[in-house]
Amino acid sequence: MSPETRLGAWEAIASYRAIRQFADRPLEPDHLRRILAAGRRAASSKNAQRWDFVVCSDRAHLRELSAVGPYADHVAGAAVAIALVTPDPHADGVALSILFDIGQAAGFMEIAARELGIGSCPATVYDQALTRRLLGYPADRWCEYMLSFGYPADPGTLTAPLRPGGRRPIEQIVHEERW
Ligand SMILES: Cc1cc2nc3c(=O)[nH]c(=O)nc-3n(C[C@H](O)[C@H](O)[C@H](O)COP(=O)(O)O)c2cc1C
Repeated sequence: MSPETRLGAWEAIASYRAIRQFADRPLEPDHLRRILAAGRRAASSKNAQRWDFVVCSDRAHLRELSAVGPYADHVAGAAVAIALVTPDPHADGVALSILFDIGQAAGFMEIAARELGIGSCPATVYDQALTRRLLGYPADRWCEYMLSFGYPADPGTLTAPLRPGGRRPIEQIVHEERW
């Protein structure tokens, strides 16, 4: 995709949707680097950057990773899955801001990907033991989420009209001064 055909940030945000069906082709290396750079650039509480990104693109590995949760099937067909690894959020002294931080990193990655015509979807990890075994991170780390990335199987899904009612109305969400 040439720079001229890339979306701006607002267009990428406004058209963002979860994509779970991916074309069977790898990500261009520059595109993957951009996605990872976007995660790295995310802000974090006290700039602690308590995250590591495990990048998986081997098809057999991706198939195994699709078993980490009941809604992780899309990982099997992704071009790349990026596991967001943090300190164990349940451990003493680990602030809950860790989850806000990786949410920001994930959002940056997803929007950077969308700008490049790459779809993405989170997968919530339910089976910590399996995930730990498949990814091999240290015992004091945790993986609550991974993200699938890939060019969409149907490129039209990126530009299809948004589902009506897909988000709560803004008037319902926004409160002025007080709830
Ligand atoms: C924290 C979080 C966890 C999610 N976990 C999963 C998941 O395990 N499997 C999945 O298919 N989608 C998952 N999603 C994607 C949501 O289902 C999706 O963002 C939501 O339904 C809105 O979809 P839309 O943008 O296509 O309207 C998750 C999203 C978030 C933000």
